[in-house]
Amino acid sequence: MAEHTGDCFLVPGPVRMNQKCLDAMATPVITARGGEFRDVMAELNSGLRYAFNLSPSEPKKKTQSWAGDDDYKVMAVSGSGTAAMEMIIANRFRPNDLVLVPTNGKFGERVAEMCKRFCNVKHIKYDWGRAFDLYELEQQLERKCYEAVLICHNETSSGITQDAAAIAEMCSRYDTSFILDGITSIGGLPVDIVSWNVEAAAMGAQKCTAGPSGIAAITFNSKFYERCKAIKEQDDVNALFYLDFISAYKKGDDDQTPWTPAINLAMGWAEALNILKDEGLENRWNRCQQLSTGVQNLFLDLGFELLADISQRSATVTAIMYPDGIDDKWRSDLKEQYHTQVIGAQDHLKGKMFRVGSMGETTKEEMIEGCKRMLDCFRSHGHEIPQVDVESYF
Ligand SMILES: Cc1ncc(COP(=O)(O)O)c(C=O)c1O
Repeated sequence: MAEHTGDCFLVPGPVRMNQKCLDAMATPVITARGGEFRDVMAELNSGLRYAFNLSPSEPKKKTQSWAGDDDYKVMAVSGSGTAAMEMIIANRFRPNDLVLVPTNGKFGERVAEMCKRFCNVKHIKYDWGRAFDLYELEQQLERKCYEAVLICHNETSSGITQDAAAIAEMCSRYDTSFILDGITSIGGLPVDIVSWNVEAAAMGAQKCTAGPSGIAAITFNSKFYERCKAIKEQDDVNALFYLDFISAYKKGDDDQTPWTPAINLAMGWAEALNILKDEGLENRWNRCQQLSTGVQNLFLDLGFELLADISQRSATVTAIMYPDGIDDKWRSDLKEQYHTQVIGAQDHLKGKMFRVGSMGETTKEEMIEGCKRMLDCFRSHGHEIPQVDVESYF
């Protein structure tokens, strides 16, 4: 097996970009309204449909590249993943609507916080890394007072993936809309927008699809569009301008955007999505799963504790508790002395845990080398670890 040399960059996004993606971004600027940019948008839309696991579209302008033969369309959004989620939430709900947001980490909590700006929220807060109590969610849905359930599908802060299929089934039974923050799931682990009847979902370029930071996308079905349109026509829409969904929708058929698009970022992301197409979506899911399973088993065998519940550990990020006597000094030494980057924890877990990303185009060789360096760094901090065959875990 080829060895990985150079630094190891194992963070759960932004991830490293392929040279082809970087080269595409270095293309001389084109106008935002000409035919060349429409070609870029069409290619990007077709790649987005692939990453969202939707039916295909042609990467050609004037062919409705944002649509397919399912009920879903895709739309690129200038801004990071948060802008895409804000576009969904702010346009879809009226100030008087009530939504249900169960959370078990920082990004779910952010979804709840964002919803509070635009509508009423029932926020059910579980401990970070603990699976949702589906019985409790079902009891809530039985009340039939919720316009939608919103979840952070893959909780990057605590390394847990929600049981989206089970929640989707409940939402269908209680005729409640289901909305996903898929920012670190879409493109990296199995997401089935169509069969889960997801009304809208957001993804960020810089995560599982290894695109540039600062551009994101949403997918949505006709119900989402109809609701946003009705709310706007009734003049009940939340105050927003830049992220107005209906303005953007009107430009979709022409492969256009209402404001100046992130031209070079779109070029780079379209290329990154071509690389995803070449690898194959399921192959990417499988690679992410193989890398994360390897990391999880290796650290568990060495006596480390993982934060997330065993049955729902994420394929794109693993949250590992520091052993006694170790803190974030380990992480800075790992970066400075071992040229390997992982990420720390957020909020109350700061300094108590680290997170290893297994998304984007990360190779097995890089993960193996990175894990060896992590173990060496723990040893250099006085934490005893036996010699192990790291390769055998992958
Ligand atoms: C699950 C999840 N949601 C939302 C965000 C915020 O996305 P962005 O930083 O692209 O705005 C992140 C970023 O790490 C995330 O992991």
